[in-house]
Amino acid sequence: MPESRVPRRRRFLVCEPRHFAVEYAINPWMHPDQPVDVDLAGHQWRELVRAYRDHGHTVDTVEPVADLPDMVFAANSALVLEGRVFGSLFHAPERRPESLAYDSWFRDAGYEVHRPGSVCEGEGDLVPAGRWILAGTGFRTTRETHQEVQEFFGVPVISLQLVDPHFYHLDTALFVLDSEDGGPDGPPGNIAYYPEAFSPGSRGVLARLYPDAVLATRQDAMAFGLNSVSDGRHVFIAPRAKELADQLARQGYLPVPVDLSEFHKAGGGIKCCTQEIRS
Ligand code: ARG
Repeated sequence: MPESRVPRRRRFLVCEPRHFAVEYAINPWMHPDQPVDVDLAGHQWRELVRAYRDHGHTVDTVEPVADLPDMVFAANSALVLEGRVFGSLFHAPERRPESLAYDSWFRDAGYEVHRPGSVCEGEGDLVPAGRWILAGTGFRTTRETHQEVQEFFGVPVISLQLVDPHFYHLDTALFVLDSEDGGPDGPPGNIAYYPEAFSPGSRGVLARLYPDAVLATRQDAMAFGLNSVSDGRHVFIAPRAKELADQLARQGYLPVPVDLSEFHKAGGGIKCCTQEIRS
């Protein structure tokens, strides 16, 4: 374990939850009859932004659009690597107009946006991990998109099959702790994940690629502990994922608890609210 883990400064794009609500159900967490406290959600979200800024990260915001209650989940808007933007095409018709709003943010910021030919929910299912991109499928993003992403970026894409509807996006079941590439023969960085969210074959793939991965319990995964953001040192993590945070601390990471409990009602957490802009 390194003496002291080194953080990398990140640039994030987020969307204020001004119009956040649970009005339809497109995953098992969403119950439109259960109220959401929009003020509390706003407060929790501002705490997240503050935590990022306090730790040296840049945070940009996109203007929220009325009637798009899931637009707060910025991670679904795109995958941005080396300044190139692979846009989104949502599975649920209710979320499809979000792509337009995000695409115009990217264009105004000087990026060209590639429009996918098949369902793609951005960093929800496409997780860059140094020398390759880990890609989830089964509920939202398609295998056709995985192929298209590989062609677009010229980076190997590793398809992983998700099998549990509670973990319908890859970023609910796995996150990258550290993507420092140790060179062709060195370790590929490290991840944390919940094995039961994946098919047996995909579990096998993850075990081969990451023999030293941090494995989370179902309880920590259900507490959105794997919907975390790591800068290589600090891990912004749901406070109820206690056991996972303890494991990470033992490995030299510094857990930074940020409570987004209101967003869990829509099936989202810290990472879902955070789009990374990799220039
Ligand atoms: N209600 C949203 C949906 O089901 C939540 C999206 C969460 N985003 C994520 N990156 N996992 O689409």
